[in-house]
Amino acid sequence: MSLPASRFDPDQMFAEVRALVATVRQPQLRELLLGLLDDPEIGPAFRAAPAAKGIHHPFEGGLCEHTLSVLQLGWRICDQYPQLDRDLVTAGCLLHDLGKTRELATAEAGDGFEYTEEGRLVGHLVIATQWIHERTARIAGFPRELQWHLVHLVAAHHGKLEYGSPKEPVTLEAMVVHAADELDSRVSSFGLLFEQAEGAWTDRRNIYGRRLFRGPSWNGEPIEPDVRHFEGPGIYRSTRSLRSPGSSDSPGSPDSAPNLQTPRNLR
Ligand SMILES: [Fe+2]
Ligand SMILES: [Fe+2]
Repeated sequence: MSLPASRFDPDQMFAEVRALVATVRQPQLRELLLGLLDDPEIGPAFRAAPAAKGIHHPFEGGLCEHTLSVLQLGWRICDQYPQLDRDLVTAGCLLHDLGKTRELATAEAGDGFEYTEEGRLVGHLVIATQWIHERTARIAGFPRELQWHLVHLVAAHHGKLEYGSPKEPVTLEAMVVHAADELDSRVSSFGLLFEQAEGAWTDRRNIYGRRLFRGPSWNGEPIEPDVRHFEGPGIYRSTRSLRSPGSSDSPGSPDSAPNLQTPRNLR
């Protein structure tokens, strides 16, 4: 029995992930991330693995598809908020589920996926943090503080202690990686539940414990293809919407505009 597979080409998805990761500016971080992707065991496993057993992207190539989507979301979020460190967001999006390459394997019957022994005992968060420790030790001068931030990005990505994260997000980048991951996995899981639904509503036997509305839309009509998309720098990168310096209710000149408009450094 053959396994379900992503509708996207795994080599193409991998190339797109690698191209984003290759732009990382901090040289030791770039070396760490590309070293993981180019590892002869991790790279092929990353192309083939599912992102989960059943809840979201539960098919061959699902991990690569989910990771690419989370990376793209992460980059869009960095486009909006200049105070984010794009290197860290990129690292977190790549690393957050990479340990699933060893957490999940093809089931014996060949009809799906199951947890490996390492997956049950160790889990993908700890597997990834072990890689970070082992591999940063081999990269000369890898900054310790950067290593702590990488571990935090992975450790906090489930968002809450009760969802398996030993740390809850305390950095802006960890909060963003968690949010992008949650958004992408939920969109996928809603889609899977919609596929199984018979009418406009799913039943409530799902991880959300509630009936979900499949549609097709608010009025029952199919949604028309939509070519609109957002263009431009976004409010926090643009000076267009700033109050003019002389206006009576202005808090000050554009130079004293809220901190949100000031990147933490040049990224
Ligand atoms: Fe995860
Ligand atoms: Fe994820």
